[in-house]
Amino acid sequence: MSRSPREAVDFLATLSFILLLLLSTPSHQQCPPPPPPPQCPPPPPPPSPPPPPPPPPPPPPPSPFPNPRLEAAFFALQSWKKAITSDPNNFTGNWVGKNVCSYNGVFCAPPPDNPSIKTVAGIDLNGQHIGGSLPEMLGKLADLALFHLNSNRFSGTLPKSFCKLRLLYELDVSNNLFSGQFPSTVLSIRSLIYLDIRFNSFSGVIPSSLFDKELDALFINNNNFSSPFPQNIGNSPVSVLVMANNHFYGCLPRGIGKAAATLEQILLINVGLTGCLPPEVGELKELTVFDVSFNRLAGPLPEEIGRMQRLEQLDVAHNELRGDIPASICSLPDLLNFTFSYNYFSGEPERCLRVKAKDDTFNCIPERPRQRSAQECMAFLSKPVDCCAFGCSACPPPPPSPSPPPPPPPLEPPEAPCPSPSDPDDLPQPSSPPEPTSDPPPPPDCLICIP
Ligand SMILES: *[C@@H]1O[C@H](CO)[C@@H](O)[C@H](O)[C@H]1NC(C)=O
Ligand SMILES: *[C@@H]1O[C@H](CO)[C@@H](O)[C@H](O)[C@H]1NC(C)=O
Ligand SMILES: *[C@@H]1O[C@H](CO)[C@@H](O)[C@H](O)[C@H]1NC(C)=O
Repeated sequence: MSRSPREAVDFLATLSFILLLLLSTPSHQQCPPPPPPPQCPPPPPPPSPPPPPPPPPPPPPPSPFPNPRLEAAFFALQSWKKAITSDPNNFTGNWVGKNVCSYNGVFCAPPPDNPSIKTVAGIDLNGQHIGGSLPEMLGKLADLALFHLNSNRFSGTLPKSFCKLRLLYELDVSNNLFSGQFPSTVLSIRSLIYLDIRFNSFSGVIPSSLFDKELDALFINNNNFSSPFPQNIGNSPVSVLVMANNHFYGCLPRGIGKAAATLEQILLINVGLTGCLPPEVGELKELTVFDVSFNRLAGPLPEEIGRMQRLEQLDVAHNELRGDIPASICSLPDLLNFTFSYNYFSGEPERCLRVKAKDDTFNCIPERPRQRSAQECMAFLSKPVDCCAFGCSACPPPPPSPSPPPPPPPLEPPEAPCPSPSDPDDLPQPSSPPEPTSDPPPPPDCLICIP
């Protein structure tokens, strides 16, 4: 029997529906094998999806520090606070919190390279009797210009990282308990002009490069340095040089005259000087204070001292000097105080009696009160002095016999190398300008002076 067109349409519709259904139902049971239609085999495992992109980092929390340099200063000062073992005045008691500029003894100012921010420019803990040590982290105080620590009880030595303080120009750690070799890291601080390490227990030799450094004032007195007396002190451009009370030995070098243009005060009390005073000291035309007392200087007082037109204080007491006091010295226009007691001088010009303050006692001067006994003078003066024999004085040519060789140069401790920038301890410091490679930087200007 044939179907009506109507039935045929219905059938076709049903058939195509079933077909569609079959085609769209992925079931292997319904798949006629073989060949499987492409839709049928289990789909190959999809390639593993690319890992999801990492979530964007959360925005950093707003920094509690106004700038990265103050953040570095915070960590440096907290590290220092941990290294403080006693603080009798509770001076560092307020070294808490992020506002380092409010800490006692910490001074902030705009650094020379960015007048619109403030960074730590000065530290002054003078006279607080604080005990402890100085951690390497202090080298992170990159803008430090002044570091004053005098009269405390800090011990150990200076951090090597101080050589990174490219703005530091005043370093005063006097009257503490520092010890060890000369803190050579200071030799690498190019901006330094005032160095005061007096009244500590530093020992060993003084690196000769200290006197080649462009300092204006140098105080190394009252330590325990011991070495031949530095032969290049005349190279130093300082106006004030105090080396007193150390254990040097040897002569005052003739090269001292090279400091003529700059040297105003030199104090060499009790530094183990031997030999004769070189005539070149007379070249020091700017000198106002010359003190070589408590040494073992021998021979005459050079006539040339009478050319130091600015001299006010002259102290040669407690030596083994002899001969007549040169009259020219006592005629110096500004001479206020001339102390030459405890020597073996045998003549004093009349005009010396008119110097305002003088001490001529314990010499061998006839007719003057309070002199050594005749026997003592005779015994001492019967042994002649040959300045040439010390090997460092100007000697009349031609010396028939070679003078003894000069003392060997001091063995210098190696200079502390500056930690390289790859020092793991180093935080990146993008805001620092590159290190100058040739010329030293100009001295920092006084924007950053702290009153
Ligand atoms: C030290 O000073 C801090 C802050 O000025 C204060 O909080 C603390 O109590 C003080 N400590 C002593 C022992 O006085
Ligand atoms: C100074 O150095 C000498 C050795 O050169 C030593 O015997 C003495 O104890 C030292 N003094 C001080 C105060 O360090
Ligand atoms: C003169 O100088 C010496 C030290 O060099 C000092 O002891 C003395 O008091 C001074 N005299 C006067 C009157 O200033």
